[in-house]
Amino acid sequence: MDRYAVAGNPVEHSQSPFIHARFAQATGEAMEYGRLWCPLDGFAQTVRDFAASGARGCNVTVPFKFDAYALALRHSERATLAQAANVLRFDAAGWFADNTDGAGLVRDIEANAGVPLAGRRVLLIGAGGAAAGALGPLILARPAELVVANRTLDKAAALVARHATPAASQAVALRAASLEDAGESFDVVVNATASSLKGAPIPVAPRVLRPGTLALDMMYGPPARDFLDWARAHGATGRDGLGMLVEQAAEAFLLWRGVRPDTAPVLQALRDKLAGEAPR
Ligand code: ATR
Repeated sequence: MDRYAVAGNPVEHSQSPFIHARFAQATGEAMEYGRLWCPLDGFAQTVRDFAASGARGCNVTVPFKFDAYALALRHSERATLAQAANVLRFDAAGWFADNTDGAGLVRDIEANAGVPLAGRRVLLIGAGGAAAGALGPLILARPAELVVANRTLDKAAALVARHATPAASQAVALRAASLEDAGESFDVVVNATASSLKGAPIPVAPRVLRPGTLALDMMYGPPARDFLDWARAHGATGRDGLGMLVEQAAEAFLLWRGVRPDTAPVLQALRDKLAGEAPR
C-alpha cells in the first residue's frame, strides 16, 4: 500500500492523518497516512529514511517547511515564491516540492466562506513561513489591494519585493506595512502570525475591520479563539483555519493521487471530532 505521512515537530496533534484517511476512503485510493516525528536537527535524514523505506511522499509542518523546500530537486512555482514547501512527492526523477497552503486558504475563503477575492481589499498580517505560503496564491486571486503588515517591517518588505512581478502582472496593488500603519476597513483580513499561539495581544487595531469583514485566523481551536472573539466584537465575520487545513490537504492529495477529494464532508467531520474532544 502506498505510504505517506506528516513530518514535523511536534506532530502528535496533527489532524492530517484523520483528513487523509477520510479522503482515501471517499476516493477509494489504497494508501496509508501516518505521523513522522523528526528531531529538530534531523529532518532531512528522517525524511530520506522514510522515502528509502518505500514511502511515496509527505506533508511537512512547522518548523521544517523551509528545509523541505531546500531538500527537493524540483519545485512548483508557488513553492518557489514562498521559498517553503508543505508537500513533498518522492519522484524517482528527483523529489518534487509544492506549497498548497496558499491555494488552500484562497479556496477556503472563496468556495467555503463564499467571499470572492477579485477586486477586494485584503490585509495579510505576518511575514513568516505561513504568510509566505499564502501570498502568491492571494495575488493570483487578483484582489485590488493587498497589504502585508508585520511587526518587523523589513520582513514584510522582503516578502513583498519577492512577489513584485506576479503582483504587477495581476494588477494587484501590493505593499508592505508596519502593524500600526496597516490601513483600515479591509474586506478580508488574514492573521498569519504566531501571536495567538503566544497568547500575545491582537496584533492590529480594530480599524482594519468594517462590519462584515471576513477575519480569518490560520489557527484553529483555542489558539484562534481570541482573534475570532475580537473580530466578532467589532462586527466582522470570524473564521478559523480548519477549512484552510482541509483544503491544503485536498490539494496535496491531488498532487499525490491525481484525484481531488470532496472537502465539505471532511471539514464537517473534523469540526464534529474537535467539538467532541474540546474540554467542557
Ligand atoms: P511561521 O512559519 O509559523 O509563520 P515564523 O516564521 O516564526 O512562523 O513567523 C511568525 C510570524 O508571527 C512573524 O510574522 C512574526 O513577526 P516578526 O516577523 O516580527 O517576528 C509574527 N509574530 C510572532 N509573535 C508576534 C506578536 N506577539 N505580535 C505580532 N506578530 C507576531
